[in-house]
Amino acid sequence: MGNCFGVKIKAENSADSAITWGSSSRNGSKSTSSLSSVPPTLRSEGDILQSSNVHSFTFNDLKTATRNFRPDSVLGEGGFGSVFKGWIEEKTLTAAKPGTGIVIAVKKLNQDSFQGHREWLAEVNYLGQLSHPNLVKLIGYCLEDEQRLLVYEFMPRGSLENHLFRRGSYFQPLSWSLRMKVALGAAKGLAFLHSDKARVIYRDFKTSNVLLDADYNAKLSDFGLAKDGPTGDKSHVSTRVMGTYGYAAPEYLATGHLTARSDVYSFGVVLLELLSGRRAIDKHRPNGEHNLIEWARPYLTNKRRVFHILDSRFGSQYSLTGAHKMANLALQCLSMDARYRPSMSQVVSILEQVQDPKDLPRITSGGAVNKSRKAKSRSSGGIRGVKVEYPRPSASPLYA
Ligand SMILES: Nc1ncnc2c1ncn2[C@@H]1O[C@H](COP(=O)(O)OP(=O)(O)OP(=O)(O)O)[C@@H](O)[C@H]1O
Ligand SMILES: [Mg+2]
Repeated sequence: MGNCFGVKIKAENSADSAITWGSSSRNGSKSTSSLSSVPPTLRSEGDILQSSNVHSFTFNDLKTATRNFRPDSVLGEGGFGSVFKGWIEEKTLTAAKPGTGIVIAVKKLNQDSFQGHREWLAEVNYLGQLSHPNLVKLIGYCLEDEQRLLVYEFMPRGSLENHLFRRGSYFQPLSWSLRMKVALGAAKGLAFLHSDKARVIYRDFKTSNVLLDADYNAKLSDFGLAKDGPTGDKSHVSTRVMGTYGYAAPEYLATGHLTARSDVYSFGVVLLELLSGRRAIDKHRPNGEHNLIEWARPYLTNKRRVFHILDSRFGSQYSLTGAHKMANLALQCLSMDARYRPSMSQVVSILEQVQDPKDLPRITSGGAVNKSRKAKSRSSGGIRGVKVEYPRPSASPLYA
């Protein structure tokens, strides 16, 4: 989580104990996404590691690549450990001198992490097979004695959470256009997961798991809680309730019954966070405003009052039609009855209607849109071909 606002839900009560694969098919897959065909059987750790399309690193490789896990190269901290920046040679994947080769993000699990190994393995299982422009690329892993690490492509602009909620000169408020772009990218990632090609339920959709590349393309990371979707004529999979408070769908919390529509609810929460610039749960707000969904719902249903919930930092960047469309979409995704939620491919089509490339003004490396020249970003650079890096966030408590 890396912040004191999200609280992981981990309730013990179920049958979720093994990693399985539903039937998968490559039929009709687009060139941009792929999934190796895996038999619908339980897969052992050995099978998963052997069949994944990723590299096996030694602990020493990664120690050198991250300069001995230097504290000043920490990119962020989550519930299972810290993420470090490192460098490897493009061809050999061996450690490279900082600033040369390719940049990687190395997640090093805390050795005392109770859930760690299972989630680590689920990540290798899913990201080792799935490939899509809106999923972060897993380059490899390390399993050595007690050490568990994951090696990802480096996402230069860090997490959406940082851009939406972290205050500071680097993290300028994201413009309306960029928020729509990020929402579309993340929706495409979820739509791919839910498609027949993958049939996966993500289960942990939230702003800290949406990472941004230099051009603000969104990619989903963290597949530790992902599950195979239901097969045959089953309507749901039964699992122990896991995820993050504030994002989990009400019926899933109540019953442990998981469907793709649970992810759609979580998407609705994130969409509302994008529209309002407020966190899903924020105890620092006045009474009655702690829970974003409860606070915003009455405004979303009223065309004239909807503007009350929009982030005041937007100024006049959005159109009335666009704002209404988005409020309506959030409301549908957040339906208490899962049957009334749209599918993620429907969400993608709606979001495509509000993307307007002409709306994308000049972007500074902090992501700000400066229509008023006054609020000048201190950082330089445009969106293409410019090296951008985000600063190391301050350490923050895990799991408040
Ligand atoms: N591939 C990456 N490139 C750049 N930064 C990354 C990358 N992966 C993770 N990070 C940074 O590290 C932070 C911690 O990630 P991590 O997935 O461990 O935890 P989290 O998503 O914040 O919380 P949780 O443990 O609940 O998933 C992210 O929020 C992000 O800022
Ligand atoms: Mg994460």
